[in-house]
Amino acid sequence: MADDWSAARYETNARFVSDLGQGVLDWLDPRAGERILDLGCGDGALTEKLMSAGAEVLGVDGSADMVAAARARGIEARVADGHALDLAPEFDAVFSNAALHWMTDPDAVIAGVSRALKPGGRFVGEYGGHGNVAAIRTALSAVIEVEAGVADAPASIWYFPTPAEYQARLEAAGFAVQRIALIPRPTPIPSDMAGWLETLAAPVLAGLPEAQRGIVRDKAQTLLRPALCDAAGNWTADYVRLRFEARL
Ligand code: BEZ
Repeated sequence: MADDWSAARYETNARFVSDLGQGVLDWLDPRAGERILDLGCGDGALTEKLMSAGAEVLGVDGSADMVAAARARGIEARVADGHALDLAPEFDAVFSNAALHWMTDPDAVIAGVSRALKPGGRFVGEYGGHGNVAAIRTALSAVIEVEAGVADAPASIWYFPTPAEYQARLEAAGFAVQRIALIPRPTPIPSDMAGWLETLAAPVLAGLPEAQRGIVRDKAQTLLRPALCDAAGNWTADYVRLRFEARL
């Protein structure tokens, strides 16, 4: 699979993703000496916070560019597909921020997490829940359908479940869900919508012929301006987070 992630572009357009991770870190409550797996560690900005709590952390990510950026911070990190985790049950906790919505076979992910945890271990995460980036998704989907004739392109890339659906999947895999919540979080973004799309919808755009990518990006931005851009030109993305804590 192509690596559509650029750590440098992420730093410019998406640093807020890790900056806003404190809420889920509080739910994880990492302790000194714990062995923690950071699933979808990205460039390691949050992984560093786990390490500064005294945890011993392994980061895994599907992007080689992101793993290189994490290693440059001194983090033990490796490239791995979150659908096929094959790690020994050595972790006290598996943590994940803003990554699980990219993994469209959640049962395979949950099974791998379960294999990696010690008995009693916890799985704590946050990602896009039902209704996440609804306006962005609708605009992107509509423009891609008109320009490229592909129906609902984001559906094959993004997974945004309800709490009830995800809880049922966790329970079917043997987890006890301690808490789970959908959290609307309109999020000011540092760039315009074109910058957001280029960075955070890169795998969706990458599925299009190159000549169409810029057209789709610009038309989606035009459609979204009345809903997500204020009179001063500031853009806000319509994020909805799904945050959960589950134990084996
Ligand atoms: C999110 O963090 O919710 C997200 C990021 C990129 C695309 C879709 C959702």
